[in-house]
Amino acid sequence: MQINIRDFKLVCGAMSWVSDPNLVAAISNARLPSDNVSDKALGVLATGAMKPDELDSAIKEIKAKTSNIYAVNLIGMSPYYDQLLSVCADHKVPIVVLAATLPRRERIEQIKEMGAKAIGFATSLRIALDLIKNGIDGIILEGGEAGGHVGSIATTVLIQEILFNIAKDVPVIVAGGIGCGKMIKHCWQMGASGVQLGTRFVCAEESPMHPDTKALYIKKQAKDTVVVGAIDPIFSVIPVRVIKNKAVDDFYQKQREAIKCLNAGEVDAHGAQMMIENFWSGSLRRGVIEGDLEYGSLMAGQSISFVIEQESVQEIIEKLYNQMTI
Ligand SMILES: Cc1cc2nc3c(=O)[nH]c(=O)nc-3n(C[C@H](O)[C@H](O)[C@H](O)COP(=O)(O)O)c2cc1C
Repeated sequence: MQINIRDFKLVCGAMSWVSDPNLVAAISNARLPSDNVSDKALGVLATGAMKPDELDSAIKEIKAKTSNIYAVNLIGMSPYYDQLLSVCADHKVPIVVLAATLPRRERIEQIKEMGAKAIGFATSLRIALDLIKNGIDGIILEGGEAGGHVGSIATTVLIQEILFNIAKDVPVIVAGGIGCGKMIKHCWQMGASGVQLGTRFVCAEESPMHPDTKALYIKKQAKDTVVVGAIDPIFSVIPVRVIKNKAVDDFYQKQREAIKCLNAGEVDAHGAQMMIENFWSGSLRRGVIEGDLEYGSLMAGQSISFVIEQESVQEIIEKLYNQMTI
């Protein structure tokens, strides 16, 4: 099947634990209320810390639920990256979204050789240009308003820096802080081939999120999210936007303790890093699936202000399209 990335007007970004086969299939099966028959929605499977056999089962489940195009998100530093990619090749996954590290040319070529399209994330113009140089098929420009791991530059700045400069060369999908239809329409009018939303779909009926966590997300506003990062450059921490809770305070406390130990000569810089290294391990599952609102990780973007009730994927999409005409 010939794939044109520009057909995917609405993408639901991969969200670890949230974008499971059920949500992915619901998005890819959704009907866009558009006059253009080639316009489609795209679901992206999150692989997070998945092992190859888990990915194999997840893809089988997606295929059982939809015959439409879907994508798989691969995290660059996954210890199983090569095996996960070979599972994608076995299943002839149509689109692979590469996250977390700048993909090398060989990695992009490998994906193309298996007949799939490769999409990468850009959080700066430099990264976007490197992705193009390495042969990427499409770029997701993601601003710091987004939920999950983020760069520091706002979507509005990236639109001017990236979209306005490269949309003629490669399809650009805009992500980060998008919550209403009017904004989506403006992004398309500015040259985006599509938009990617994550947070707006977390409370969808088809999302596996725990009911208590959904109820909390529905109550929260943009001001309730914070970017959590390192308090000292000795630590290597990828900043992440989450709903502020006790886990955030504890993480900062843990870093302060590690610095104290470092200053007292009880640990070296590596030891201090190790003290905080596993802090968030398993915490997204606790927050999203088990409903631990205090000590789980609650990744969410500023667009959480637009999450006001639980609706089906199809209802969310229709609402977004209705807002385009208001
Ligand atoms: C709960 C959550 C988990 C996420 N996990 C991932 C992930 O595993 N891989 C990834 O590439 N992006 C991840 N993201 C980012 C989304 O794919 C998407 O780009 C982002 O949510 C868009 O911004 P928005 O939240 O403002 O809509 C995650 C976002 C959220 C809210």
